[in-house]
Amino acid sequence: MIEKIDLISNRLKELIPKDNNYQKKLFEAANYSLLSPAKRLRPLLVLTTLEAFKKDIKIGIDPALSIELIHTYSLIHDDLPCMDDDDFRRGKPSLHKAYPEWLAILTGDYLLTYAFEIITKANKITDKQKVDLIQSLTKYSGGFGLIAGQVTDLSFEGKKIDFEKLKFMHLNKTAALFIAAVEFGCILANAEQDIKLKFIEFAKSFGLAFQIFDDISDTEDKKSSDIKKDKATAVTILGLKEAKKLASDLQEKGLEILKKLPLDTNDLEKLILKIS
Ligand code: IPE
Ligand code: IPE
Ligand code: MG
Ligand code: MG
Ligand code: MG
Repeated sequence: MIEKIDLISNRLKELIPKDNNYQKKLFEAANYSLLSPAKRLRPLLVLTTLEAFKKDIKIGIDPALSIELIHTYSLIHDDLPCMDDDDFRRGKPSLHKAYPEWLAILTGDYLLTYAFEIITKANKITDKQKVDLIQSLTKYSGGFGLIAGQVTDLSFEGKKIDFEKLKFMHLNKTAALFIAAVEFGCILANAEQDIKLKFIEFAKSFGLAFQIFDDISDTEDKKSSDIKKDKATAVTILGLKEAKKLASDLQEKGLEILKKLPLDTNDLEKLILKIS
């Protein structure tokens, strides 16, 4: 796992252009958010999936980082005063607290756009793989993915929603990028369709469990805006005990799926166990 984390953090440092032009502040702000301490779960999931097929993980690094860029942009926008209004992120003041709000919005836009450029320029993968990666990323980060999740999350604020709505919101705002990550691994490994579908089921359980654990820790975190904003979360909908049970059941389901795969899933098992 350490080698994969090193690969990710080293390449991440090289990604944003060094520029002394008029847009210097943009790149500085992008690095402020991108290089702050973070778990790097989504790029790790791409590389670990690829590794399960015994492929060279280096071919996956730039595609993996494109998902981290999308994730980071989503966090910058998620923290804005018009959304969750959170003042801290990754152990530091949120981007809109450290820089002007307009620059935080534009930095998010920049990371979103740059993510796709990075895929087009990736080395050692075919044009067909690039198109498949871009298609996957647009699907899971767009109006039937992450953005759908964020729209529902914000429109459910102050409302008592049912479990079905909660699941839709979690699947889209969080699990969608986990699904993109395993799909990236499968595309890069030229995996068969039936294996890819099993990976998608695994990523759904992983992503849902992850968001429930996040909701649980946010209820204990005085800096989180969830309670102040009366957010609909797994804890408010299910209660703390049920939420904890559901998250560990989903983790267990993910592990079961992995055990049935004809691949070396050791590190994937470690990854899903890390989130509780
Ligand atoms: C935060 O994601 C947003 C959620 C989906 C809960 P992470 O907890 O993976 O954030 P970083 O990348 O480690 O900062
Ligand atoms: C995270 O939801 C989902 C996205 C940012 C897309 P949260 O709003 O729960 O994440 P945190 O708690 O701010 O990290
Ligand atoms: Mg949010
Ligand atoms: Mg938030
Ligand atoms: Mg949260």
